[in-house]
Amino acid sequence: MIRSTMIVAAALIGLQGTAHAEGNADKGMVQFVKNCSSCHSIQQGSNTVGPNLHSIVGRTAGSVAGFTYSAELAKGGFDWNEPVLLEYLTSPTQAGGGDQLLHTVHMHFEGLSSREAEDIIAFLKSLGAQ
Ligand code: HEC
Repeated sequence: MIRSTMIVAAALIGLQGTAHAEGNADKGMVQFVKNCSSCHSIQQGSNTVGPNLHSIVGRTAGSVAGFTYSAELAKGGFDWNEPVLLEYLTSPTQAGGGDQLLHTVHMHFEGLSSREAEDIIAFLKSLGAQ
């Protein structure tokens, strides 16, 4: 009995640890609505000012059919894995190795804090990853 209680407690601590390291999807949803949803839909096939962000985690850059990207993103050549996304959202002018200015200008800010970006990535991941 004591032993199984300890196992459950250890499992709970383990889960909390993971949630912390990966960001909080609920907070990320709030951040997404505030910072991203004016330009991005999360519905597949629905492009607005920006391309839809359905299954964006792991998706190849510049790959949404029917969306006209900047020359830089249209080249593709990399995937939006978590470290790249984190860099794009925290320092948009640095990531992707090229001219990310379009996003910076459109987003009207220098970037998010790491905490905000991690939460948004956790939310986007919860919608499905590739
Ligand atoms: C004011 C409009 C606007 C806002 C706000 C905005 N974006 Fe974007 N986003 C764009 C545009 C336009 C592009 C296409 C950029 C390009 O072609 O270089 C883009 C591209 C992207 C891409 C690359 C997608 C792909 O298919 O390669 C990601 C990832 C992204 N945005 C994430 C976000 C996130 C997350 C937020 C909120 C923190 C956000 N964006 C806020 C307009 C916006």
